[in-house]
Amino acid sequence: MGTIQIENMSYKYDQMVDNLFDSLNLQIDESWKLGLIGRNGRGKTTLMKILLGKLPYQGKIVSNLNFYYYPQDVTDKNRPTVEIVKELTDLEDYDLWKIEVELDKLQAKTDILEQDFSTLSPGEQTKVLLAILFIDDYGFQLIDEPTNHLDIEGRKVVADYLKSKQGFIVISHDKTFLNEVIDHVISINRQNIDIYKGNFDVWEQEKSRQDASQLEEKEQLQKDISRLHETAVKRENWSNQSEKQKNKTGLQKVNLDKGFISHKAAKMMKKAKTVSKRVDSEIEKKQGLLKNIEIEEPIKLNYQAVSHPKNLVVVDNLELVHDELKTPVTSFKVPINQVVSLVGRNGIGKTTIFKQILGIKQPFKQNGELKIANNIKISYLAQEDELTGEIRQLAEERKIDPEMIFSNLRKLGFERNLFDQPVESMSQGQRRKVALAISLSQEANLYLWDEPLNFLDVITRQQIVDAIKKQHPTMLLIDHDKDLIDEISDQKIILEN
Ligand SMILES: Nc1ncnc2c1ncn2[C@@H]1O[C@H](COP(=O)(O)OP(=O)(O)OP(=O)(O)O)[C@@H](O)[C@H]1O
Ligand SMILES: [Mg+2]
Repeated sequence: MGTIQIENMSYKYDQMVDNLFDSLNLQIDESWKLGLIGRNGRGKTTLMKILLGKLPYQGKIVSNLNFYYYPQDVTDKNRPTVEIVKELTDLEDYDLWKIEVELDKLQAKTDILEQDFSTLSPGEQTKVLLAILFIDDYGFQLIDEPTNHLDIEGRKVVADYLKSKQGFIVISHDKTFLNEVIDHVISINRQNIDIYKGNFDVWEQEKSRQDASQLEEKEQLQKDISRLHETAVKRENWSNQSEKQKNKTGLQKVNLDKGFISHKAAKMMKKAKTVSKRVDSEIEKKQGLLKNIEIEEPIKLNYQAVSHPKNLVVVDNLELVHDELKTPVTSFKVPINQVVSLVGRNGIGKTTIFKQILGIKQPFKQNGELKIANNIKISYLAQEDELTGEIRQLAEERKIDPEMIFSNLRKLGFERNLFDQPVESMSQGQRRKVALAISLSQEANLYLWDEPLNFLDVITRQQIVDAIKKQHPTMLLIDHDKDLIDEISDQKIILEN
């Protein structure tokens, strides 16, 4: 069995002050199905790029495996998919059956190879790129967030596919998916990096057990500390007093030997100092450990409830048509203080309906009815937000107080030193958090959130769920995370042809 040995590896990006990885040591077996987890911006993608040899790290990485990365860069998408496959794999025509075998396992039609890549659904694109990764039997795959653009069915298929493979690392924030797929976990914590044997649930249980015992230890420690401090103070007082007494000549009792008192006082003093030193180092050690506990601060939407009309959106037999594309005929209402979810496979037209509600110009002809309440403020979180530039600038353009966005970002676990960085140099999840923080900060009567959870870590996900459950905003939601939909929706609208 081969291994990947990471020895004393350190890395930081140029503009960083501290190392992202600091003398990291890890040993990974080539047969493991590894889930790489950790909050946004911890360095998951960076670790993969380091393994690929794309970043100039310090230290040593020993392995004789061929690493492959998903998602690959596809330069020109307006070409038949087969061209892209050939470019990314060096496969000859007579070898193309290899990719067809993988596509078949992924339940994708092989004739998509003839289609232009740009015309494939996001799910199909994902499957093609994954199939490419697995044609080398001796490869070790580094798969960076494959589920983001997959619908529920697609996630299941890809989970089953990966489960049948051996030896890869996958990054994902989808617990259900990870539980299906992985048998080991690498967790990038606040203070260290851990490896566990087991799936996500096993890791989560272990982590909360550790957190609980650390908190308990902390309480015990704090008691110990104050007791030790008290004793130390008492000792110190005693030795000080003895010194004083020793110097008060005349009043000294005969049986008190000056030398003895002095010696004893010095000993006490020394002991007090040692104890306090030990206490200090113990406190430091414990506090270091406690920093591994992830903090989950509540977030809040800047939601302004309106009292009427009863429904902010009314959709009646709506159908949007353009060439062969047609959304299913749909009817629903979005009542005040309710979360309504649109559920349906990739490419069925959910985002198209969103854009029509927002009045964004589209080439679709509208049949049926669509009514939006007058003068309401809508906060829209787009599926793909191509934000660029500095946060302050983005806030000003949208007439939002930047401090409000910063405060929301802090709650979402953002480091302060990122505030002045251009959004394009942030991690995927950090970019998504900027978009989310903008939406949270905007004053709104209605939220249109298109796949809010994409790229976000599990803690942020929980923060979102808690806020929505608490505030009951009026919201129209699209997401492929089944647990989220079940947890927060008051109504589910199923779209299907
Ligand atoms: N090209 C870059 N230049 C400067 N800093 C970067 C660059 N790419 C990433 N970073 C920073 O390095 C840190 C790690 O980023 P990385 O993309 O590896 O995180 P991640 O764990 O994959 O996060 P996510 O879950 O959001 O994808 C982040 O703080 C990010 O802002
Ligand atoms: Mg990443």
